[in-house]
Amino acid sequence: MKKRSIFYKKPVSACETELQDADRGLKRVLGPADLTLLGIGAIIGAGIFVITGHAAAQYAGPAIVLSFVLSAVACIFAGLCYAEFASMVPEAGSAYAYSYASLGEIVAMIIGWDLVLEYLFAMSTVAVGWSGYVVSFFRDFGIAIPTALAAPPFVYDAGAGWQATGAIVNIPAILIIGILTCLVAVGIRESAAVNRVVVIIKATAILLFIGFGILYVQPANWTPFIPPNTGAFGEFGWSGILRGAGVVFFAYIGFDAVSTAAQESKNPQKDMPRGILLSLGICTVLYILVALVLTGIVRYDLLNFPDPIAVGLNAAGADLFWLRPVVKIGAIAGLSSVILVQIIAQSRIFFAMSCDRLLPGVFSTVHPTFRTPFVATVMTGTIAAILAGLLPISVLGELVSIGTLFAFTVVCLGVFVLRRTGPDLPRPFKTPFYPAVPLLGAGTAVFQMIGLPLGTWMRFILWFAIGLSIYFFYSRRRQTA
Ligand code: ALA
Repeated sequence: MKKRSIFYKKPVSACETELQDADRGLKRVLGPADLTLLGIGAIIGAGIFVITGHAAAQYAGPAIVLSFVLSAVACIFAGLCYAEFASMVPEAGSAYAYSYASLGEIVAMIIGWDLVLEYLFAMSTVAVGWSGYVVSFFRDFGIAIPTALAAPPFVYDAGAGWQATGAIVNIPAILIIGILTCLVAVGIRESAAVNRVVVIIKATAILLFIGFGILYVQPANWTPFIPPNTGAFGEFGWSGILRGAGVVFFAYIGFDAVSTAAQESKNPQKDMPRGILLSLGICTVLYILVALVLTGIVRYDLLNFPDPIAVGLNAAGADLFWLRPVVKIGAIAGLSSVILVQIIAQSRIFFAMSCDRLLPGVFSTVHPTFRTPFVATVMTGTIAAILAGLLPISVLGELVSIGTLFAFTVVCLGVFVLRRTGPDLPRPFKTPFYPAVPLLGAGTAVFQMIGLPLGTWMRFILWFAIGLSIYFFYSRRRQTA
């Protein structure tokens, strides 16, 4: 039988027909508020609750605020391109489906495989962070969880390589992935309902911190706002702001996950762009305010801790001690919803790739009662739980940013290509300032990727070698013209 070209493009109209035919069994229940909350659920997590302090103390000082602005601008370029595609190709696969329509099958396989990397590793990273917060929360109440059962058995050090830690397995990380996988498998409506509650908890914690913290700001802490560069690139000054932007980029990852739920949205053409852009906008404002208040309460050089918001509250004095457990609960909630939405996103990527016969058909089976991609969800949870149970946060986290930036690049270029190859296709949402926005979006993403370490690039390339082997030895055999 004749095989189709590796550059075969799935017509946009085919995507629409498939949707009208059967909806592939998924339930269309999500409205604009749910989609925005899913976005916020996926975005606010370890980035703001864990990474901000380190980035301010080591790279940017109070100007970490500018790093947040810079990173947000790069994300908004990509967000606008995601919004255009999500309104045109309202399918479950997000960037994977967009590249199938604009750049061809082999690029779709590469980007699909890239999204697997982004979501699987992001949820495992955040689960390890969640475990750390939960252990510390229980410790505050005098309950000690043994380290052997709450830490990875291996760590990796660039100089010494892999080393055993003496720990057995990270049980809390496995548990949270297990619980949330069950929830996602049982239903999208149920998952969205839990996400709603969790987002309210974390947003309340952040708003309380901003509202009360602002009363304790000492403007002297903002001077100098941009501490002078130490002489080394990336240590304060303008280069520090740039490096800070690269580090806090992790805090914005997640708005793209909204687009994976297109097939479960009631009115994807309209609501997808809203969900993506609103969640990104709301989180950007919150991040900038948190960064301003935090660096206003505490001098930036005292912030190099994994729980910077708690450090800020300590510095404000006894008056705000009551807020400390609230913030910890907010952080635990925040990290939970990030994991939840990543599980939803990853299972929909497996689902979409399987529908297109690039992965085994079992991944696109829909549970008759729950109407969810059940097998894809359980597989996602199982792999993520193994990764989170055994590996340290550093090894897991480093691949997430490069994977996300690569997806942003392809989506921005995809908008550019599809405007040329299909100028008359209906576009319910159009990226403004075309072609500046997609080109700047792709350019800033590539620029940030170039700054990542060589080791990350090597692992990234190895990951693609595996994906392309699956494509040529498995997926291609199942495609016909
Ligand atoms: N943006 C997500 C977080 O900060 C990945 O945890």
